Amino acid sequence: MSAQNPKSTVLDVRSLRTTFHTDRGPLTAVDGVSFQVHRGEILGLVGESGCGKSVTSMSIMRLYDEKYTASISGEVLLEGRNILHIPYRQMQRERGKSMAMIFQDALSSLNPVLRISEQIMEPLRIHRHMGREEARQEAIRMLGLVGIPSPQERIDCYPHELSGGQRQRVMIAIALSCQPKLLIADEPTTALDVTIQAQILDLILELNEKMDMGVILITHDLAVVAQVCHRVAVMYLGQIVEEADVEDLFDHPSHPYTRGLLQSIPHLDGGHRGELHQIEGTVPLLHQIPEGCRFAPRCPLATDRCRQGTVPLQDLGGGHMVRCLCPQEGGL
Ligand SMILES: Nc1ncnc2c1ncn2[C@@H]1O[C@H](COP(=O)(O)OP(=O)(O)OP(=O)(O)O)[C@@H](O)[C@H]1O
Ligand SMILES: [Mg+2]
Repeated sequence: MSAQNPKSTVLDVRSLRTTFHTDRGPLTAVDGVSFQVHRGEILGLVGESGCGKSVTSMSIMRLYDEKYTASISGEVLLEGRNILHIPYRQMQRERGKSMAMIFQDALSSLNPVLRISEQIMEPLRIHRHMGREEARQEAIRMLGLVGIPSPQERIDCYPHELSGGQRQRVMIAIALSCQPKLLIADEPTTALDVTIQAQILDLILELNEKMDMGVILITHDLAVVAQVCHRVAVMYLGQIVEEADVEDLFDHPSHPYTRGLLQSIPHLDGGHRGELHQIEGTVPLLHQIPEGCRFAPRCPLATDRCRQGTVPLQDLGGGHMVRCLCPQEGGL
């Protein structure tokens, strides 16, 4: 699912920059992020905690209060239309209709005092203009599609009456009910046990193929990326440091940071699920962004040259991009 793929571009993010207004002054959490997602493609967004994955997705969905919380600049083209500056009401219509997001914690994303039926029928009635009965039937169909057992009964449950895995499936059903062009799944399985995790990932994969959506899958887990993603973008401290087709990234990781992340999963096929903890040091705070390459203070290969100026993304060929002055060659 690469540069050779003729499929149309669903999302084209250009130079996205998100700056929070904080007591300490402005903090730029996403700094010049650009990537594309095509129809039927799953892009994995990975990186350690705090590197800006959620801020990127929240910014694309424009879920921040743009007056008081954060300023967002750049371009977010959804099927060619820049949605970054459209009026708020129009943006609300886009959300749920053309683009949807699944969060990590389904319980806090679902409304605890409304039955599942209300929560899944509402977008169907608003965005797909269905009558009550038609929306109910479609809601039951969607719940069945995401693997909720006895959906005609469970549709009248409250969120707390369902298991964690079922709630996550309900979230997915709500997100997909309006057949969005773009789905952003931010750590959709982290809170679930391993078996349910695998089922939910299979479901996202299956629905992605069936509905031909573009998907951004945010995860800490590189084994998940290897399993379901077509392309991968690796983020570090608010920037993309490497992006490539999934096989290319796993076979030829070029950025020392990516190599560090991959070294934390020594047995991809042996079922070991990696934690991203093998790179020395921690991600610096946003008000302590280092000069030059942002990864240099933790990089075993850094030289003085890396600690000055800005390091651009360079194209290694075949859509493999890396932000490093001395990209590595070969496998691990
Ligand atoms: N509302 C906010 N105000 C100020 N800073 C924020 C705000 N939201 C996020 N940040 C900062 O932006 C940076 C990126 O956060 P983000 O939530 O995108 O990380 P992440 O990559 O999703 O991490 P995780 O894997 O833990 O979910 C962090 O340093 C975080 O502290
Ligand atoms: Mg996050």
